[in-house]
Amino acid sequence: MIRRLQIKPLQLENPLILAPLAGYTDLPFRLLCRQFGAALCYTEMISCHGLVYDKEKTLQMARTVPEERPVALQLFGADPEMMGEAAAIVSDMDIDIIDINMGCPVKKVVKKGAGAALMKDPALAAAIIRQVCKKTSLPVTIKIRTGWNHETIVAPEFARMAEDSGVMGIAVHGRTWTQGFGGAVDWQTIARVKRSVSIPVFGNGDITTYAEAQAFLEKSGCDGVMIGRGALGNPWVFSPEGSPATLSKRMEGLQLHLQLIQKYSDPDRILAKVKNHAGRYFKGIAGGSSIRRQIYAAPDFAALMKLSDAV
Ligand SMILES: Cc1cc2nc3c(=O)[nH]c(=O)nc-3n(C[C@H](O)[C@H](O)[C@H](O)COP(=O)(O)O)c2cc1C
Repeated sequence: MIRRLQIKPLQLENPLILAPLAGYTDLPFRLLCRQFGAALCYTEMISCHGLVYDKEKTLQMARTVPEERPVALQLFGADPEMMGEAAAIVSDMDIDIIDINMGCPVKKVVKKGAGAALMKDPALAAAIIRQVCKKTSLPVTIKIRTGWNHETIVAPEFARMAEDSGVMGIAVHGRTWTQGFGGAVDWQTIARVKRSVSIPVFGNGDITTYAEAQAFLEKSGCDGVMIGRGALGNPWVFSPEGSPATLSKRMEGLQLHLQLIQKYSDPDRILAKVKNHAGRYFKGIAGGSSIRRQIYAAPDFAALMKLSDAV
């Protein structure tokens, strides 16, 4: 049974959400995942400073289109005033949710007090949430980890603080900062977060199939499930049919993705990135390694588009 998900005042078609992935969840990939069934997609993390200082590259990353809605734009930063200003700026864009990154483990981000570092400073995190909520009428969500390390699993208390400060939904990646992206996902803590608040909670971590997503929703009681790496080269993760077993069907998925890249970006300028996405469509399938070699050898975007003739 497909459950709906409500992040007030938004009503989503189903509980499957594309996670924010820096370098990957750009406009074409979000549109693709929406076509394949994701009810909501998150942008890559966007710097509040880049927005406030009107940086061309940041504005480009923050670009959304009405066809992809509902979409959540994720901000990162550690200064409440700056985050509030950035929230005001993006509120005029075609977006439905402002998300605040409180889980990024990357040194460059954490060193400045942003991302997962905010889980060590709940007072600052609360100030950021309040300021963002003050400056926008859109629903605000946060994305967190279970805690900083195994000794400080603070996600349930942190989630309550966030709810009291005004957020309308919480995504929890079931790992601590020290775990990075490896080690076991702590589903029990995600379920505890769900029981600790009355707003929707989305669990996240290592989901790679539609069936796993459904099983996770059942066992955790969460309102939604957020899928990141499992969607790369596999937008079918959002559909009950799942990833097709033939090269030609996988190629159809890739070609749809390439068409969106062609329509919304300058593919030859980002050819390495396009190849990175493209190669992932043929992992774990007979004949896949030969296609992958052809992808990495392609001299330009036109050659990638022609690869469909090869299967
Ligand atoms: C390459 C990469 C980029 C990521 N970028 C972001 C980001 O911009 N914002 C964020 O909140 N999380 C980011 N994450 C974390 C993911 O959203 C997600 O929490 C994590 O990958 C676990 O989920 P998964 O196993 O479904 O990928 C990133 C993860 C990866 C691997």
